Amino acid sequence: MEHTRIKELLKSEEFGRHVIVKGWVKTFRNNQFVAINDGSSLNNIQAVVDFENTDEALLKRVTTGAAVRVSGVLVESLGKGQHVEIKVDELTILGDSDPEKFPLQPKKHSLEFLREIAHLRFRTGTFNAVFKVRNALAFAVHQFFNERDFVYMHTPIITGSDAEGAGEMFKVTTLDFDNIPRDEEGQIDFKEDFFGKATNLTVSGQLEGELAAMALGNIYTFGPTFRAENSNTTRHLAEFWMIEPEMAFYELEDNMDLAEELLKYVIRYALDHCADEIEFLKSRLLEEEKSKPQNERAELNLVDKLNFVLENNFERVTYTDAIEILKRSKPNQKKQFKYLIDEWGADLQSEHERYLVEKHFKKPVILIDYPREIKSFYMKQNEPDTQGRHTVRAMDILFPGIGEMVGGSQREENLDKLLARMEEVGIPSDEIDWFLDTRRFGTAPHSGFGLGFERLVLFVTGMTNIRDVIPFPRTPNNAEF
Ligand code: 4AD
Ligand code: MG
Repeated sequence: MEHTRIKELLKSEEFGRHVIVKGWVKTFRNNQFVAINDGSSLNNIQAVVDFENTDEALLKRVTTGAAVRVSGVLVESLGKGQHVEIKVDELTILGDSDPEKFPLQPKKHSLEFLREIAHLRFRTGTFNAVFKVRNALAFAVHQFFNERDFVYMHTPIITGSDAEGAGEMFKVTTLDFDNIPRDEEGQIDFKEDFFGKATNLTVSGQLEGELAAMALGNIYTFGPTFRAENSNTTRHLAEFWMIEPEMAFYELEDNMDLAEELLKYVIRYALDHCADEIEFLKSRLLEEEKSKPQNERAELNLVDKLNFVLENNFERVTYTDAIEILKRSKPNQKKQFKYLIDEWGADLQSEHERYLVEKHFKKPVILIDYPREIKSFYMKQNEPDTQGRHTVRAMDILFPGIGEMVGGSQREENLDKLLARMEEVGIPSDEIDWFLDTRRFGTAPHSGFGLGFERLVLFVTGMTNIRDVIPFPRTPNNAEF
C-alpha cells in the first residue's frame, strides 16, 4: 500500500517523513489548507498546498467531497488543534465532487435530512462515530461469548414458524401474484410455492436456538430479525439485529446474571475501545441539549451515564411489585399516564417502563414474573400465587431512555404444560412438532434472552432515534437503498 491511514499519521512524531494520504476533502480554506478525512479517524489531517506554484484549474477541483491523493512531507503544525500537517509536493484529484450538487456541505445538517441521504451520511463525524461504536459493540458481543465457550449458531432467516406467536411476520413467496394457485376450498395453495409451504422471515432465532442448546449446552445467535409490526416509533425497526443466547440447565437467576454481565461487558468494551468516538458523541449531545430547557436536559453526560450503568447493580423487581409502585406513583394518581394502572394484569406501556427506570429506580431494572397472559407461550409457568394469579418466569431488562433492551425467560420444559398453553393461545402443535421433541427427549430446565442490538447501540451512542444507529433503516413506508 502506498498510502498511510490518517489515524496513524495524526499520532506520528516522524517529522520530515515523506507520506502519501488518500481521502475526501472536508474543507478547503484560503486556497491553501485542505482538510482531508479518510474515515480512519474522526479528525482530519491538514494538507498545506503551495498555491502559488499549483495550477489554478487543479485548485478549483479541490471541493468538499472530492477524493484526493496528496503526497508530501509530514511537518509539525503551527495551527491550533493539530500537531502534524502535510506540506504538499503533489496533489491529485481521484474523483471530483461538484460543489453545486454535493449535498453534504461543511455546515450542520439535521439528522432528519441526513436520514434522507443515508448513502452519504457515513461521511459525517456523527455517523463515523456511531458506526465505529456499533462495530465495537458487535465485536465485543462475540468476544464475550467466545471467552465463555458459547457456540455461535446461525439460525435460519427463512422459517415456517412464528417464534413469538404474535403474527408479525413478513411472508416469503415466489408465487405469481397475478395468478395465485388455490386449493379446492379457495385457499392459497402454498404447496405450489417455492418451499411447498407457507414461509416467512424469522422474528427470532429462539426456537432453533433452543434445539441447539439442548445438545451443545450454551449457544448464541446474532443475526437479522424481522417484524411486520406497524410501530412507527423511535425504538422500532422492521429489520433489526438480535443477540439471542440460549443455555441448558440455566434458571431465571442465571439468565439474569448472564444478561447483566453481557451488557456491562460490551459497554465497558466500547468505553475502552471507542473513547474518541464516545467523547465526540458526548459533546454532540451536550451541544444539542443547549436548545432544550434546563429541566429537559439529561442529568448525566454520555460518559457518566455509561459509567453509572457499569458501577451499579441492575434492580431486580417482580411485575407484581412494579404494579404496586406504579399504582401509587404521582403520574398515575394525577392521571398523567395515558394508560392508567389500576389492575394487576395490565401490560406495561413504555410510559410505565420509563417511570420505573428513570424516575423511581433511576437505573436499569430487570422486571420478572409477568402475568402469563401478556407473555409468549414458551415461558415457564410459575405456581399460581396465593390469589390464584398466573405468572411466568419472564425477564425484561429496562434501560433509561430506551425502555425494553432485553426480553427473555426461563423456558417451559414440561411438555404437558407447554402443550396446554399452546392450545390456549391457538398455536397448532403440529406446526412446531420438532420444537416439542426437546421436551419429549431429555427435557431439562433452560433459559435464554434476546438483546435488541440497535437499542444497545442507541444507548451507548446517546442517539435518540433508532433509524440513526443502523446503516439503512427499514420502517413502515421506508425501504430506501
Ligand atoms: O422481547 P422480544 O420480542 O423477545 C424475543 O424475540 C425472544 N424470542 C428473545 C429470546 O428470549 N430469545 O425481543 C427481544 C428484544 C427486545 O427486548 C428489544 O430490545 C428488541 O429485541 N426488539 C426490537 N428492536 C428494534 N425494533 C423492533 N421492532 C424490536 N422488537 C424487539
Ligand atoms: Mg419483549
